[in-house]
Amino acid sequence: MPRVRTLFVCTACGGESARWLGQCSHCSSWNSLVEEQVRPSPTTERIDRGPSGLGRPLTLGEVEGGDRARWTTGIAELDFVLGGGIVPGSVVLIGGEPGTGKSTLLLQVSARLAASGKTVLYVSGEESPYQIKLRAKRLHEPTDDVLIFSETAAEAVVDRVEDINPDVLVIDSIQTLYTRRLESAPGSVGHVREVAAGLQRLAKSREMATFLVGHVTKDGGIAGPKVLEHIVDVVLYFESPVGLDHRIIRATKNRFGPSDEIAIFRMSATGLKPVANPSALFLQSRQGGSSGSAVAATLEGSRPVLVEVQALATRSVYGAPQRVTTGFDQRRLAVLLAVLERHAALRTGDLDIFLNVVGGLRLNEPAADLAVVAALVSSVRDIPVDPQTAFIGEVGLGGEVRAVSHLERRLAECSRLKFQRAFMSRASKPPAENSIVTTRVGDIGRLLDELFS
Ligand code: TYD
Ligand code: MG
Repeated sequence: MPRVRTLFVCTACGGESARWLGQCSHCSSWNSLVEEQVRPSPTTERIDRGPSGLGRPLTLGEVEGGDRARWTTGIAELDFVLGGGIVPGSVVLIGGEPGTGKSTLLLQVSARLAASGKTVLYVSGEESPYQIKLRAKRLHEPTDDVLIFSETAAEAVVDRVEDINPDVLVIDSIQTLYTRRLESAPGSVGHVREVAAGLQRLAKSREMATFLVGHVTKDGGIAGPKVLEHIVDVVLYFESPVGLDHRIIRATKNRFGPSDEIAIFRMSATGLKPVANPSALFLQSRQGGSSGSAVAATLEGSRPVLVEVQALATRSVYGAPQRVTTGFDQRRLAVLLAVLERHAALRTGDLDIFLNVVGGLRLNEPAADLAVVAALVSSVRDIPVDPQTAFIGEVGLGGEVRAVSHLERRLAECSRLKFQRAFMSRASKPPAENSIVTTRVGDIGRLLDELFS
């Protein structure tokens, strides 16, 4: 019997350490190491010769080229974030907080794949077949042919996969599966990683598309998807903006397509429905005519989206003024305020500033700077910005407005939503054919003159 070893594993990155440390020596996160009992060391066992005699190195010329056939999931928006459908043999991790709709989406996908003639095995360690049936009834989807298996033993799942030979395997969730090879509790880092690596090999060897559900909690308490990200091919995260019924699904890793693409769904009484017009969704609750609001034409992956940025500046009652942001980097806000102070004589030292990106999106793109600047100045001066105006541009430390990529796509989205005017950098080259008025400005001083005087 191989000896049981005690290891400390980082819940954030999966890095191992022989002793407990306050800070992970691999990814530098604090307080993330947990104790694991490992028997035997999974790494040494994995490096065996495998079935010898099979496989030899190929020249690239011998390797079959061309696009691999992909399967459509039956949900176009999901196919889009996957990079054009699922690749047989790939493993897709669907991460998100409990209650965001992961099981719902996967049951919808399972139904549509089964209806298109694929054999789908849906393994649930969390719900009984009866509970899944209740959900299926709500969805009005062709779920009858989906094979449901309530199981938590990884070995039993592998046995069933070998009997049934499914085209698609769904594991809901990876945290509930355990393997007899490890002593630690199901859901611990060692387990999650070991089971996922096993399923990855199984998927590759059988050309079986596999979806893994991974729960994450707000504080990242459970051994989570972070550890899995290295193992799987595609990572999709469910984001659910607080208090709103839409869900943003974002591809944060994709070995078979572009990452950073998003798809937007709405949770309805009959499952998740794709949102055809995200910009309209993000702009729907706008109040025209109030100060502190400006629209940024941003890109999410390859798609343009118009998003409202709201700023609120109020007199500070405490000594240190507050800077609170939602969906925008706080340090970036500090930079933009400093630029405004220096190059537009906008004093905000005695003001509390709140900045909010409406609809739960995060604006990471510098192209959103110009809209943030417009919203800030609008609030400080209490002068509204025309609601049919959009902003596209990065702001530099010298107060200059810089051109950004994909101007055409952004402008096309502005015209589609019937915007009348767009501000951008003087260096931008808008297409000659344009249904909206483009105003090109060299620096923020010029922007503010055009907007507020
Ligand atoms: P679920 O898919 O169970 O979330 P997860 O697997 O990510 O934990 O969905 C949870 C929520 O979605 C639950 O609060 C009920 C709601 N829901 C709907 O609003 N409409 C539906 O059609 C279904 C099936 C669920
Ligand atoms: Mg679930």
